[in-house]
Amino acid sequence: METKKKGGFSSSIGFVLSAAGSAVGVGNIWRFPYLAAQDGGGLFLLVYLGLVLTFGFTLLATDIALGRRTGKNALNVFGSLHPKWGFLGKMTFLVPAIIMTYYSVIGGWITKYMVVYLTGQGMAAAQDGYFTSFITSKASPIVFMLLFLAVTAFVVYSGVEEGIERFSKLVMPGLIFLIIGIAVFSLTLKNTDAAGTVRTGLKGLAVYLIPDLTGLTFSRFLKILLDAMSQLFFSLSVSMGIMITYGSYVKKDVNLNRSISQIELFDTGVALLAGMMIIPAVYVFSGTEGMAQGPSLMFVSLPKVFDAMGGVGIVVGIAFFVMVAVAALTSCVSVMETLVANCMELFHAPRKKTSLVIGMLSAVSAVVICLGYNVLYFEFPLPNGQTGQLLDVMDYASNSFLLPLICLLTCIFAGWVIQPDWIVEEMETGGYTFRRKKIYAVIIRYIAPVLMTVIFLQSAGCLR
Ligand code: PHE
Repeated sequence: METKKKGGFSSSIGFVLSAAGSAVGVGNIWRFPYLAAQDGGGLFLLVYLGLVLTFGFTLLATDIALGRRTGKNALNVFGSLHPKWGFLGKMTFLVPAIIMTYYSVIGGWITKYMVVYLTGQGMAAAQDGYFTSFITSKASPIVFMLLFLAVTAFVVYSGVEEGIERFSKLVMPGLIFLIIGIAVFSLTLKNTDAAGTVRTGLKGLAVYLIPDLTGLTFSRFLKILLDAMSQLFFSLSVSMGIMITYGSYVKKDVNLNRSISQIELFDTGVALLAGMMIIPAVYVFSGTEGMAQGPSLMFVSLPKVFDAMGGVGIVVGIAFFVMVAVAALTSCVSVMETLVANCMELFHAPRKKTSLVIGMLSAVSAVVICLGYNVLYFEFPLPNGQTGQLLDVMDYASNSFLLPLICLLTCIFAGWVIQPDWIVEEMETGGYTFRRKKIYAVIIRYIAPVLMTVIFLQSAGCLR
């Protein structure tokens, strides 16, 4: 069963940084801080940390061990272990295929803002309507998307070790450096608004860190738990086939226990720092009401905050968008790599040719998504009650519908079909001990399937 792969990560640190590159993305920067602000600050953080150490570890270990033990990609891994489960591989393959259609579009938006700040036009980005007029324009979003996609495809084309590993080792430490710098700066901010209220970054930090228990009921706690859980598996890039693919590139002598803890530490650390950077800054200039959800936080609220900072805001804006661009790029690389790796296995095709074909197909589909804001504009009603454009429909299909479903099925597969011991053996390969193996078995067999079912029903609109 143990097949050897050709390409692979040359070192444990290369694997950790590449996997962290996938995990750290726009979810850490625009979703985590927003959820923390909305869900009782420190309370959300405590729940999230508890989940990282239990569920996070379980889900990440399952994906990575599946990949390393079989040396296969998602498309074939499940079917090769049990003939009736081949469908799960196909479903898992769908996720990166859907995400690829729109992720580079968001990457293009980020690239545009990075260029705007680098060329000293940050003030314009703070004007009302700037973001909407940009994404609804015909040419510009396509041009920036193509730029972003070209860099992504180049990294994937260059290979696992020469491309992904090398690139991640280069940019991930820089990302940490930038985010720490901006977070520390955020804490030093101070502003007096028109009504004479003085707000400081440190007070904003208190809003972020101190658990807000006012009006806490069981159902509110449940909501916080579900928010934290769905954020967690999105943030760790599990159930997308990505970690299975990356796992298949890891050498047998690497201690998976340690690597997984490091990936989690990296991902959670960046999320916590993103909150420390964004919540105090928004609080100082717009109060807690300024915390917007989704893209509007990054493309509308933050440019206003940078503008309110004066001259230094331009520098902070540059640092911020460079950092987000890096985070988005390494995530997009992992999505494209997963597609390329699966297709290489499927068609027995070489990497370079497959990367070019997937790159072209991604470009075509991303152009369609860009046009979803002008020529192809529709308002689709989504099962969760909101309406959206093409991009939102794709995002909904992959993240709200397929992800929890695949996560649920993967837990059933690992917990009941191949059994937890199969994963434990892989985690202990090389003589390492899997210390959390008892809790692993309980979570994968019982707790995760129940929670995932609830999350799935909730996002499918059945629990409103
Ligand atoms: N893990 C990423 C994040 O937190 C999300 C992501 C990665 C989505 C890769 C798709 C593909 O933002």
